Amino acid sequence: MTTSDLIKKMFLSFHDKNNDAFFLAAREYIDHEKRKKHTIVAKELEKALYSANGSSEKGKRFKNAMPIPRDTEKGFPLLEIQHFDISMDSLLICSETKQQLEQIIKEFKDADVFATYNLQNKKKVLLCGKPGTGKTFSARIVSSVLQIPLVYVRFDSIISSYLGETASNLRKVFDFIENGTWIVLFDEFDIIGKNRDDSHEHGEIKRVVNNFLQMLDNIKGDSLILAATNHQYMLDPAIWRRFDDVIYYELPDEDIRKALFELYLRPIKKDPDIDFPKAVTLTQSLSPADIKMITEEAMKLSILDSRPCLSQSDIEAAIHKFIRREKVKNNQMGDR
Ligand SMILES: Nc1ncnc2c1ncn2[C@@H]1O[C@H](COP(=O)(O)OP(=O)(O)O)[C@@H](O)[C@H]1O
Ligand SMILES: [Mg+2]
Repeated sequence: MTTSDLIKKMFLSFHDKNNDAFFLAAREYIDHEKRKKHTIVAKELEKALYSANGSSEKGKRFKNAMPIPRDTEKGFPLLEIQHFDISMDSLLICSETKQQLEQIIKEFKDADVFATYNLQNKKKVLLCGKPGTGKTFSARIVSSVLQIPLVYVRFDSIISSYLGETASNLRKVFDFIENGTWIVLFDEFDIIGKNRDDSHEHGEIKRVVNNFLQMLDNIKGDSLILAATNHQYMLDPAIWRRFDDVIYYELPDEDIRKALFELYLRPIKKDPDIDFPKAVTLTQSLSPADIKMITEEAMKLSILDSRPCLSQSDIEAAIHKFIRREKVKNNQMGDR
């Protein structure tokens, strides 16, 4: 089809108010530009088609054209399209990790420039580290900064009790992803990545892993694929190799813990004599998510007490409550 044929097709579907046909025609036109190696034009058009208009409209046309894939057996959705507006400044991590993340964003933006040098931007990135260190949060930030919706896939929801279903669920998810340009997060990736021989399901899981890796290897399109796991040591080396980059999220050091307290206590007035260094010492080896929870509890304590300012004792009470809770969780209370 010629360029004018394709544009005519779009005009006609616009005239008919047929969103689906319009979307397909626009998609065809973008592919046409790509084939002509007009990558910058194609990318601009893609951006306009998928996400550039007002926030409530974001992704709407796309959703009309391609339904969210569902589990064949049980019918639940296999993925979720999410929109966020979170700035990079809200992520407090060590500067090397942040730079790594920023480079991935820059590479994505400069993919066309790279292409002229025959280089590829990093497209498959593994995020690993302890729970609550900001892996899921980072994916939301990447999606916000790039203004591309996040396709959120929870791994455990894809793994069906029937192996055949799992493979077909995966295929459906990949088909969906390949039909657009997205930031994709395969969250809680551990399940598929578990490299353990002790499970009787080992053979099955292994087949699922291979299936997933094959699809990841052959994935088409410009989407940025992120996978997050809390158990990086359990991941098979074969999986590591498949990723262009691995970002490791460490627990926050003292400076970052202090910054977290300041950030999350920003909404409330504070006593001038609050001892942040002490709070920082008391929260050694806690994650950013833990500290966020503590600050929320501390603010509640002061609000419930109708005091005008948050005090040191609110912070310490919240920390002790948290630590106690963790002990219960880890069954360290000393009772049977
Ligand atoms: N590095 C961080 N800086 C600031 N806030 C963080 C950070 N890590 C986690 N948080 C807060 O904790 C919440 C939960 O973190 P999350 O990204 O879900 O952790 P993970 O996916 O690594 O288990 C986030 O939504 C965010 O509010
Ligand atoms: Mg997470």
